[in-house]
Amino acid sequence: MTKDLINILDLVGRKAVPEPWAEGDNIPWSEPGFSERMLKQHLSQAHDLASRRFETIDTHIAWIHQKLLEGKQSKILDLGCGPGFYAGRLAKLGHECVGIDYSPASIKYAAEQAGKEKLICNYLHEDIRKAEFNIGFDLVMLIYGELNVFRPADATAILKKANRALSEHGILLLEPHSFGVVKSIGEQPSSWYSAKSGLFSDKPHICLEEGFWDGQSNTSTKRYFIIDASTVDVAHYATTYQAYTDQQYSSLLKESGFEAIEFYPSLGESKDKYQEDLIAIVAKKSNDGK
Ligand SMILES: C[S@@+](CC[C@H](N)C(=O)[O-])C[C@H]1O[C@@H](n2cnc3c(N)ncnc32)[C@H](O)[C@@H]1O
Repeated sequence: MTKDLINILDLVGRKAVPEPWAEGDNIPWSEPGFSERMLKQHLSQAHDLASRRFETIDTHIAWIHQKLLEGKQSKILDLGCGPGFYAGRLAKLGHECVGIDYSPASIKYAAEQAGKEKLICNYLHEDIRKAEFNIGFDLVMLIYGELNVFRPADATAILKKANRALSEHGILLLEPHSFGVVKSIGEQPSSWYSAKSGLFSDKPHICLEEGFWDGQSNTSTKRYFIIDASTVDVAHYATTYQAYTDQQYSSLLKESGFEAIEFYPSLGESKDKYQEDLIAIVAKKSNDGK
C-alpha cells in the first residue's frame, strides 16, 4: 500500500475536526517499509511501543498457560500476533499456535523464528477483517489494545469469526483499552517532533500529531502528518479508537456469541509496571454458539 501524498497547502486546509475512520484505518502497519521499521520497535527492550518487553510478556504467558489453559495442551489463534512473541512462547510450552497479522516484516520474522526453533506455529500474512479463520481452537486472543482501532461493525465481525473458530468449550482473551484511556488519547494536546529517520520515514522528516475526542460517537482520532524535509511532501495517516464502557464490552461479546464474561484489571496477575492502560476480558463461547 503506497500512501497518497498531499502538500502543505492541503495540510493547512485540512478539515478542522476529522470524521471517525474517514481519514484512515490505522498507522501503516501493513506497508513494507513501515513494517520493517516497526519490527525494530517490536524487538527493542528499551520501551513498550509496539510490543511489551519480554520480561512482561513472560508473565502474561505464564498466566495464559496456567490460569486460562490450566496447563492443558491447546490450539491457539493469535489475532494481530505481530512478530509472534506470544504465539512462539506458547508453542514452546507445547501448544499448537496460529498467528495472523498483516505486517509483512512481523510475519516474516515470526515464521523464521518458528522455523529455527522447530515450533508448531503457523503464521499467516492476512488482514483479520478479511481472513477466514480455521476452526477447532481452544483459545483465540486479540491483545495489546488492537480491538479498539476497528470500526464497531468490523470489531463485531472479527469477534463473531473468533467465536466460530473456537471449539465447544473454547475461550476468548481480549485486552482492550478502558473507556477513559481511549478518551485521554483524543484529548492529548497537539505535538510535533523532527527526526533524521524514525518510525514513519527513514529520511529526515517532521511529524505533526493531533488528537480529537468525539463525545457523540465516543471515539478518539489521532492524525499524523509526516513532512519530508527535502521534498516537503506530506503523508497523512489517522487512527480512530472506539471507546467502550464495560457494559458495552459485555453487550458486544454477548452479541458475538459469548457468555461468562469476566473482566480483569490487566493481562496477568498484576498491573504492568510500565503500562496501566489496558484491561483484560475473558469470555466463553456460548452454549448456543451463535
Ligand atoms: C500493538 S501490535 C501488538 C502485536 C502483538 N500482539 C504483541 O502484543 O506483541 C498490533 C498488531 O496488530 C496488527 N494489526 C492491526 N490491524 C490488523 C489487521 N486488520 N489485520 C491483521 N493484523 C493487524 C499490527 O500489524 C500489529 O502487528
